[in-house]
Amino acid sequence: MSTTFTIDTATSRATPTPAPMKRLTIPAIRAAKGGTPLVMLTAYTVRMAQLLDPHCDMLLVGDSLGQVIYGLPSTVPVTLDMMAAHGAAVVRGSYHAVVVIDMPFGSYEASPAQAFESAAMLMKATGAAAVKLEGGTAMAETVAFLSARGIPVMGHVGLTPQAVNQLGGYGARGRTPEEAAKIVADATAIADAGAFSIVIEGVVEPIAIDITRAVACPTIGIGASAQCDGQVLVAEDMLGMFERTARFVKRFDDLSGHISGAVATYADDVRSRAFPGAEQLYPPRP
Ligand code: KIV
Repeated sequence: MSTTFTIDTATSRATPTPAPMKRLTIPAIRAAKGGTPLVMLTAYTVRMAQLLDPHCDMLLVGDSLGQVIYGLPSTVPVTLDMMAAHGAAVVRGSYHAVVVIDMPFGSYEASPAQAFESAAMLMKATGAAAVKLEGGTAMAETVAFLSARGIPVMGHVGLTPQAVNQLGGYGARGRTPEEAAKIVADATAIADAGAFSIVIEGVVEPIAIDITRAVACPTIGIGASAQCDGQVLVAEDMLGMFERTARFVKRFDDLSGHISGAVATYADDVRSRAFPGAEQLYPPRP
């Protein structure tokens, strides 16, 4: 049975009607290498997925939900159950984009077998088409293990937020020739192991260009380069929900301003008894 549901937005009820399978596929994403750049955004909820889906090739259920949704200090405390709940909501709210779900810290690093068990759990619970995991050469064996067993894997190199305790912060990576060479080697190892795509985050631009030229799969940049094969941002960042964001975020709107304005008007209307008005009330039957 399809895990895709339609949502009646007037009633907020999910209708368990299997949707026709019109989604983009992993082979289609692979085939986009070198073509029109791929569009990817994070989504964590059903309504956001519905709004983003028509415009995106891929939706990422990022473990950034730890900070964005739950106010956690980093992605480190995020659990498989949190990812599964949000991933299922995003799949229910989308019809077009490939949904990729992040493997949270601690759910895949110990061994390829641990990674398979966690990835299979996430894919069964959510209906997502692929998983993403952080790391380079050290994760190549795991990427090969999952890919050979029917689990498409997106890699993630450069600034890898799950390693914040080791990196010491979220600054750009690859500022020394040694570090730059390591990031390129990491990406190449993951690509050779079978990753269908690789996120390159927070690196000095020539590294992203070198990797994009070197690997056969599409690269998705975030704080990397417009020369990547696609781009990803956290949707709440690009919509202007936060005052402080990383340098690589462009704000395409000011949602926090719109929300503050609307809520201030609501508060005024409640306090002055202008709300609810006649249109929002149920008149008695004549
Ligand atoms: O968790 C996340 O949102 C991510 C992207 C920003 C690449 O990994």
